[in-house]
Amino acid sequence: MQAVILVGGEGTRLRPLTSTVPKPVVALVDRPLMAYMFEWLHGHGVDDVIMSCGFKATKVRDVLGDGSQYGISLRFVEEPDPRGTAGALKFAEEFLQERFLMLNGDVLTDLDLSAQLAQHESTGATGTLALVPVPDPSSYGLVRLRGDRAVEEFLEKPSADTVLDTNLISAGAYVLERSVLDLIAPDRNVSIEREIWPALVDQGLYGYVDDDAYWIDVGTPQRYLQATFDILEGKVRTGVVAKLGEAYLSVDPSAQVSGRAVPPAIVGANCTIGDGAHVGSLAVLGDDVAIGTGSIVERAVVLAGARVGEGCVLRECIVGPGARIGDRSQIIGGSMIGEGVMIGADNVVARGARLFPGMEVPDGGLAFA
Ligand code: GDD
Ligand code: MG
Repeated sequence: MQAVILVGGEGTRLRPLTSTVPKPVVALVDRPLMAYMFEWLHGHGVDDVIMSCGFKATKVRDVLGDGSQYGISLRFVEEPDPRGTAGALKFAEEFLQERFLMLNGDVLTDLDLSAQLAQHESTGATGTLALVPVPDPSSYGLVRLRGDRAVEEFLEKPSADTVLDTNLISAGAYVLERSVLDLIAPDRNVSIEREIWPALVDQGLYGYVDDDAYWIDVGTPQRYLQATFDILEGKVRTGVVAKLGEAYLSVDPSAQVSGRAVPPAIVGANCTIGDGAHVGSLAVLGDDVAIGTGSIVERAVVLAGARVGEGCVLRECIVGPGARIGDRSQIIGGSMIGEGVMIGADNVVARGARLFPGMEVPDGGLAFA
């Protein structure tokens, strides 16, 4: 089975995490975001994957290689300019088979693609959208279904005054027949959500509802953290669960832990956790991270090579690769620290503040509390 994964978006909402690393290969827990998608696709018989790239494609290719480590074959297609979600598919036309899957590249899910494919086959659909219920559907593509599972209406991110009478949204996983490509104008930016799905209503567009699945769009800092916690707690079926084992704790043998690691948590290779420090619960340390004496890292992600001083508090935050956090500083409240950012001692970074690569904060320079 073949799949096209759209990864050409700029990931602006996840900056500064995506300022230096393209979203598909941003680290989520202990592996690049795409690794979860490959594992899931592979489990449903996908062996041929086309990555539809735009932004920083070379870096994506460098990290993911030819796919062999994930048991799939990977090819990369690079648009000359952003073509939109349908334009990107059209651009990959020459590689596509009669029937294929199309995926948004920023979702973490274990929804049942095999059942979706089976329904697609039995209804004779041209396109079948995976649908999941969410509490607040307004920032997604909303779908109203008929009893026979044909799509009655598709509404992408409705305006605030629209009355919503469905909680089913498009999960960003589609089964498509090649004939869909005939609806997409070549060589220009086309949105599949705004132009193609509405045109396919009553023309063979169906919805497959999966209400048991785990599903999250990892596109915002808050949801990135939520996805991290859910992976650590085993709420979504991923390879991380096996690595964590029954104790829900994975500490690389090369790590030096003087303080404590509290499950669920993952501590990468060559990390050091100083005396009296505690890491967890719900914490991730990438490789080569140092946590100083007495510091607390809880419900937080600290990426590879970051160094955290003594007596710090890191809670509900993401600290980017190679960042430095000075003694007694607090990074809290959904804040994000970009790659290599230097924060001096006695700072408080809170309320979702985002510090971008290149920034340096002197001792006591910030107090956002
Ligand atoms: N190649 C390519 N070119 N990929 C693109 C482009 C482009 O021009 N624009 C966006 N993408 C990719 C993004 O990288 C992402 O993986 C996917 O297409 C969806 O784009 P987002 O920007 O993440 O869209 P969204 O999350 O606001 O909404 C979409 O996903 C929702 C589910 O998460 C829509 O498909 C909604 O209908 C859907 O409910
Ligand atoms: Mg998205």
